[in-house]
Amino acid sequence: MQEKTGAGAVASALTLEEKASLLCGQGAWKTVGVERLGVPSIVLTDGPHGVRLQDPNAGGSAFDINASLPATCFPTAAALGSSWDVDLLARIGEALGAESRAAGVSVLLGPGVNIKRSPLCGRNFEYLSEDPLLGGHLGAALVRGVQSTGVGTSVKHFAANNQETERMRISAEVDERTLREIYLAAFEHIVTTAKPRTVMAAYNKINGVHAAQNPWLLTQVLRDQWGFDGLVVSDWGAVLDPVSAVAAGLDLEMPSTNGFSAQRLVQAVGDGRLDEAAIDRAVVRLLELIEWTAAGREPAAAPDLDVHHALARQAAAESAVLLKNDDAILPLDPDADAAVAVIGEFARTPRYQGAGSSRVTPTRLDNALDALRDAAGEKLRLSFSPGFLLSGDEEPQLVSEAVAAAEAADVAVLFLGLPEGVESEGHDRDDIDLPAVQVRLLEAVARVNRNVVVVLANGGVVEVAGWHRHARAVLEGWLGGQAGGSAIADLLFGRVNPSGRLAETIPLRLADNPSYLNFPGGEGTVTYGERVYVGYRYYDTVDAPVAYPFGHGLSYTSFAYSDLDIRVDGSGDDVVVRVRFTLTNSGPVAGKEVAQVYVGDTASSVDRPARELKAFTKVALAAGESAQVELALYARDFSYFSTTHDGWVLEPGEFVIHVGASSRDLRLSAPVTVHAPEPVAPLTDESTVAQWLADPAGGPALRASLDRIPGSGLGDPAILRMVESLPLTRLAALSGGHVDIDDIRRQLAQASAQEL
Ligand code: BGC
Repeated sequence: MQEKTGAGAVASALTLEEKASLLCGQGAWKTVGVERLGVPSIVLTDGPHGVRLQDPNAGGSAFDINASLPATCFPTAAALGSSWDVDLLARIGEALGAESRAAGVSVLLGPGVNIKRSPLCGRNFEYLSEDPLLGGHLGAALVRGVQSTGVGTSVKHFAANNQETERMRISAEVDERTLREIYLAAFEHIVTTAKPRTVMAAYNKINGVHAAQNPWLLTQVLRDQWGFDGLVVSDWGAVLDPVSAVAAGLDLEMPSTNGFSAQRLVQAVGDGRLDEAAIDRAVVRLLELIEWTAAGREPAAAPDLDVHHALARQAAAESAVLLKNDDAILPLDPDADAAVAVIGEFARTPRYQGAGSSRVTPTRLDNALDALRDAAGEKLRLSFSPGFLLSGDEEPQLVSEAVAAAEAADVAVLFLGLPEGVESEGHDRDDIDLPAVQVRLLEAVARVNRNVVVVLANGGVVEVAGWHRHARAVLEGWLGGQAGGSAIADLLFGRVNPSGRLAETIPLRLADNPSYLNFPGGEGTVTYGERVYVGYRYYDTVDAPVAYPFGHGLSYTSFAYSDLDIRVDGSGDDVVVRVRFTLTNSGPVAGKEVAQVYVGDTASSVDRPARELKAFTKVALAAGESAQVELALYARDFSYFSTTHDGWVLEPGEFVIHVGASSRDLRLSAPVTVHAPEPVAPLTDESTVAQWLADPAGGPALRASLDRIPGSGLGDPAILRMVESLPLTRLAALSGGHVDIDDIRRQLAQASAQEL
């Protein structure tokens, strides 16, 4: 018998009742401890862009999202996703870990890596990208950073939680290929490369089964296929039936159900509906988590909040995306002898995070107006007019004041964005428009001043096509966290060169989005009818115009790509394709470029997106400097998920590799041939005559039967062609007994026995 170690030994010293009680939380944010065995209770809390620890002295409900202790509010995931900077995410992770640790938090609930399927999702500000590779790499970096401090993470919301409408009961109807290629892929990357200590099971159902009670998701895929050995925690209140949840592979239900779940688990073991071994497994995983997080509960130096604020500022600056910059109107010269009209309440009262469980009480809060004033030279005259009310109510007088200020100024900088509360957990957006009052203000300002710069504050994308012609520059600042205001000033004055790139396409119109007709669904289900064609995968495949493409973002300098050199080593599963090229900063100032590698399959047996992001890197270059970049691609980067093969399939042949600055700005392209064995589909009774005939063993077996059909005419290739698409079962039925499936199977078995 194997000797039981730590967690196993403790688990065997527990009674069934104690074990069952451990599998559900204590209160809102803690696990249950077992004093007699020295098992502590640990704290799990939100996440993802700051530590939201409930203030124990606040009184009121434990779920009051406004009653948390101050913590650094880093930029939201919508912003961080646009940084395309894995090192930055790792550093933010370390800072989040340090603050969690100081606050006694053992597991930080994040990152959120759900795919931005529709721009309407109310929680897109908490998610990284519409692309699973980008989301997966950034999410993995954050996990590594947090966990390097001894604090666990919880990758959420597993899986297919892509809307807030009916989130507790909607069934996401998604075919398996789409799940694997799009909705599970970021989770898979994080689980297999960064080993998050926990994964959070989502509220919704997937193909009819609740995520938190889904054995396919939580056991088959997550544990058996990806090798996850951590703990699965439910989203708060996601468990309907604790017995099915534990049987499916869920380990910890949150929050507490006051003993109700434990009682049901004990009963289920008693009457044979639940194997006690399932409870044991979950308890061991919980104890292992508690053990792993022990180091993180040791006292540590208090985090330096000034350093974290500076990091938040740097992160916000790295994440902002310069969408347009006609005639290089930006950067503004802080030392110019000029007048700048700063317009828009958001310059003074920033929108810097979204609503819901991720809401952090910041340690301090910068605003762009003060930051601009601090940085402006003596000759620069800055005026401020609010322009609109945060409530969205019309206030004509405010508009006239702003227009007068703009008229008297050389440049008007308008701070526009989405009002607080529009983007929130719990509900989706109704549209992607900026409030009409703000658009009218912009139009009025543009009539009197042609040097208009718009700075945006929003988590999910907003429609820009209707108004961006009125602005010479548009800087998308996202919800940039507590230092976002200073970061915007850094960018406007050119102290930092913009280097963010869109992690989500900005469509011309909401109706262009591929999920449009299937979002948010109805009558309990939402059909993912666009399949793998999410975001740019759709726009680029059908070549639809967009406002700004995935990966887009301007800089105050320019970059040139040259010398593409692609080498292929090995074949099949071991293939490595090295993509090398030279990147040059061909402009006047230092800057950072995000070089993106996309792969398209030239000839595939299944439909595939025109191209998909498979590698990227962010490179800092001084003016005039060049760097050699090398990015490697592997078998998986060329594969699709096949339900016939029940796995990833690499089809040999030609692919095309593009290197570029966005999914639409492809600078270098070259074909590449990948060698791999031809995938052989397993033969079943439902395989077609053509598939049987193409099989080296199945072909002769079927041909022998076909030859026995008198007067079938199957010797004639034209007739044979007509029956090729028949499934074998159908052919057998039509053959009047001449095609005998059992006989064919016997011959196949004999052939394979002879081969052995
Ligand atoms: C959210 C999770 C969050 C949890 C705890 C849920 O409503 O979906 O993201 O971690 O609450 O606050």
